[in-house]
Amino acid sequence: MQTDRKLRLAILASGNGSNAEKLIRYFAGHANIQIALIVSNNPKAFVLQRAKKCFVDSVVITRAQWENKKLVKSIFAGHQIDAIVLAGYLLLIPGWFLKMYPGRILNIHPALLPDFGGKGMYGMHVHRAVISSGADKSGISIHIVNENYDEGSLIFQKSLNILPGDTPESLAKRVLELEHRYYPRIVEHYFLDKTLPTE
Ligand code: GRF
Repeated sequence: MQTDRKLRLAILASGNGSNAEKLIRYFAGHANIQIALIVSNNPKAFVLQRAKKCFVDSVVITRAQWENKKLVKSIFAGHQIDAIVLAGYLLLIPGWFLKMYPGRILNIHPALLPDFGGKGMYGMHVHRAVISSGADKSGISIHIVNENYDEGSLIFQKSLNILPGDTPESLAKRVLELEHRYYPRIVEHYFLDKTLPTE
């Protein structure tokens, strides 16, 4: 994206926010990208404490407040947000918001899409489903967000082997490590090296 200032990203997160913190730390002092805002739908989400600790602005936009387009637009415009990164964000992104950021909203999913994705497939639900399926691989998927859960174009996947004796918990831990290792770099690559689509 051509800009004479840093690209300003907002991270949307609903819970713990370990990926959000990895992104904040990775881009701290970066020449071209800045994490400018953390948005959560949940006022109790731990990600808000992480934002505070890292001196990043944060705001709560509840599910009900998302109905108020004017309010939401003013928040993102007020922080001059250029693009969005979802990191454990549980609400569906409305179509009118996707149109504000065409091709500029990324999500990470803790499995190899298109398998084990869709509504209700988040957190440990994903890893339990993967282990009970008997699959021999899982991994991470990073994709562009569209109007359906976990369905936009894939831009990156990395797999890992499921080991004998793996539990949903042990798998979750290794998948999260992969997310932390790759998400910041893929976000950087996607928003800097690629001409962003305008629709
Ligand atoms: C990650 O596994 C991510 O793939 C999924 O939600 C989880 C968020 O973890 N979308 P955290 O809040 O970043 O620790």
